[in-house]
Amino acid sequence: MGVLSAVLQSRAAAALASPHSVDRFLEQVNPLWAAHEVRGRVVDVRRETTGVHPVSTLTVQPTSTWRGHRAGQHVQVGVDLPGARRATRCFSVSSAASGPGERFTLTVRAHDDGDERTSLSRHLATAATPGTLLHLSQAGGEFTMHATPATPSPHPVLLISGGSGITPVMSMLRTLLRDGYDGRAGRPVTFLHYARSAAEQIYAEELAAIARFDNHVDVRVVHTGAGGQRFGPAALARLVPGFRDTDTWACGPTGLVQAVQAAYDGSERLRVEHFKAPASPLGAEEAEGETSFARSGLGAANTGETLLAQAEALGLRPQTGCRMGICFSCTTRKTSGTVRDVVTGEESARPDEDVRICVSAPVGSCTVDL
Ligand code: FES
Repeated sequence: MGVLSAVLQSRAAAALASPHSVDRFLEQVNPLWAAHEVRGRVVDVRRETTGVHPVSTLTVQPTSTWRGHRAGQHVQVGVDLPGARRATRCFSVSSAASGPGERFTLTVRAHDDGDERTSLSRHLATAATPGTLLHLSQAGGEFTMHATPATPSPHPVLLISGGSGITPVMSMLRTLLRDGYDGRAGRPVTFLHYARSAAEQIYAEELAAIARFDNHVDVRVVHTGAGGQRFGPAALARLVPGFRDTDTWACGPTGLVQAVQAAYDGSERLRVEHFKAPASPLGAEEAEGETSFARSGLGAANTGETLLAQAEALGLRPQTGCRMGICFSCTTRKTSGTVRDVVTGEESARPDEDVRICVSAPVGSCTVDL
């Protein structure tokens, strides 16, 4: 950052721009100029798969305020959708680790994560073009590979993913290969991925090419919809003997991640990231009482779904980001009642506590400040 950046980030510049921010003025001149905020422009779009839930990879040129990312981290992406307010979601970065101001990629599968107008993932996967402007956070998250790239660990490495959960572990694999990993240190990498079918398989060509190289990366892709065997500890033990003592990163749908956690039986070598919270967190028999949204005066019988789902069913539109418990953008004050964390299963009955409504389901009557 040069002298100009230092000036723009100074208190004097902030005072001059008040009541607006310096970034509001810079954005008017050039959306890729920023003193504090992070924005990015899509510079390339690659269609990965087609079908009902198509996938696209967007290459993003961020502002110089981007501090870079570590392999496995995620970023919040906001877009002003046509005819709707800004929608924000959380996506893992799929390219190798980036430095300050460097380009990176996001691989997005079109989900119906809102109505037709507000589904950000569908908009990005099907309608983003070079020039699309993105409002970004800095990269975050602890699901990262921390050792040096060429010698990732004193032990073999195992990367397990399902569906769109491939993106953060692909970032790890790409980082290793880019930075000189070739397996010569005798630390093999096993890359195990589950996709429903060949048609829905992301990065198929790149993974096939990596599998062909003599680099000690063992790529295994299982198409579960075509008869491929689902994840199980016996098959994993045949592939990676002693897997519980192997440094492992696993990301995917909750069912897969829970199966992997059960197989590892509490081993500290396992790091996991869910990319989707369970859809029906509570059984119907547990869903009693009323869910009340105090500020809006709305309420209804508790359905057992997350507070976010129940709020949206009543027409409320709370602030959200990842919708899976990672980014904290949906944090809201619960004034009374008990909620269950649908990812960990933990319950909390403390009054006046801040909860992430996207992963909190009321157990009995509950009131939140929405
Ligand atoms: S929306 Fe990200 S934690 Fe709830």
